[in-house]
Amino acid sequence: MGGSPVADRVLEPGADESDPSAGPDSSPEHPLMVLTGVSKIYGVGEIAVHALREVDFKLELGDYLAIIGSSGSGKSTLMNIIGCLDQPTHGSYWLDGIDVGSLDDYELSYIRNRQIGLIFQSFNLIPRTTVARNVELPLIYARLPKAERRERARAAIEAVGLGNRGSHVPSELSGGQQQRAAIARAIVTEPAIILADEPTGNLDTASTRDVLEIFFRLNAAGRTIVMITHEPDVAAHAKRVIQVADGQIVADMRQAPVAGPPPAPESVSPEHLQVAHT
Ligand SMILES: Nc1ncnc2c1ncn2[C@@H]1O[C@H](COP(=O)(O)OP(=O)(O)OP(=O)(O)O)[C@@H](O)[C@H]1O
Ligand SMILES: [Mg+2]
Repeated sequence: MGGSPVADRVLEPGADESDPSAGPDSSPEHPLMVLTGVSKIYGVGEIAVHALREVDFKLELGDYLAIIGSSGSGKSTLMNIIGCLDQPTHGSYWLDGIDVGSLDDYELSYIRNRQIGLIFQSFNLIPRTTVARNVELPLIYARLPKAERRERARAAIEAVGLGNRGSHVPSELSGGQQQRAAIARAIVTEPAIILADEPTGNLDTASTRDVLEIFFRLNAAGRTIVMITHEPDVAAHAKRVIQVADGQIVADMRQAPVAGPPPAPESVSPEHLQVAHT
């Protein structure tokens, strides 16, 4: 993928080009995401919860990351920060050469809308609203003309294999179909980054396979994917796995190179995820 999309669209011309993490592409020296000393503390005083503790973390453009860890370990907190939904209490986060902490609310929402596609365990589709309309919604926020919205929504719905369900409302779809509709909504803006918090947590085996196949194709096409999961079988589909415990990254495992397609799931045994620590 060429260019530095966030920087191109959000930064003023001539803005901080001297930063070492800024750059036109994402080689190991120019990661897409750089978190340095990131802490997140909810509440103050005796009720303060240290959800993240001085996390240092980098992610390359084109990587496919799975985040694993027990409930309450800080996975969603980490994802909310890298998705620009929340800011760290301490530390810095650079996304595509931009110090996210320096952005105002308008710039943050611009990045979320243009660069990041979010997928959740509970789908979060708007009820009593057709799949086509749900998928079109991010393009309305992006102020695209109607004809282009319709065409892009149709293409995204087609891409997740829901071509004949566009006129249905969510309650008329299976869980797997609803999640595919949510993925269509996440990819309709063609974001460089897909963030998914337990995307298969509510799905049966066949629907889980469908979702992972879509992620495989998205990553093979160059999209960066970050996915939280409790399931080793699901994490086996990622190129890299980090384990979070008590607000810290306690293991970091590379399963496939950043360049090239994600691993063929059968080649990675679930046991591998539990023993390989760095
Ligand atoms: N808004 C909040 N206010 C206070 N504490 C919070 C808030 N959000 C999360 N926490 C706390 O921060 C810690 C990390 O929460 P987080 O949601 O990141 O965990 P998680 O790893 O995603 O867990 P799960 O697997 O259950 O989703 C937990 O102790 C949680 O109770
Ligand atoms: Mg969570």
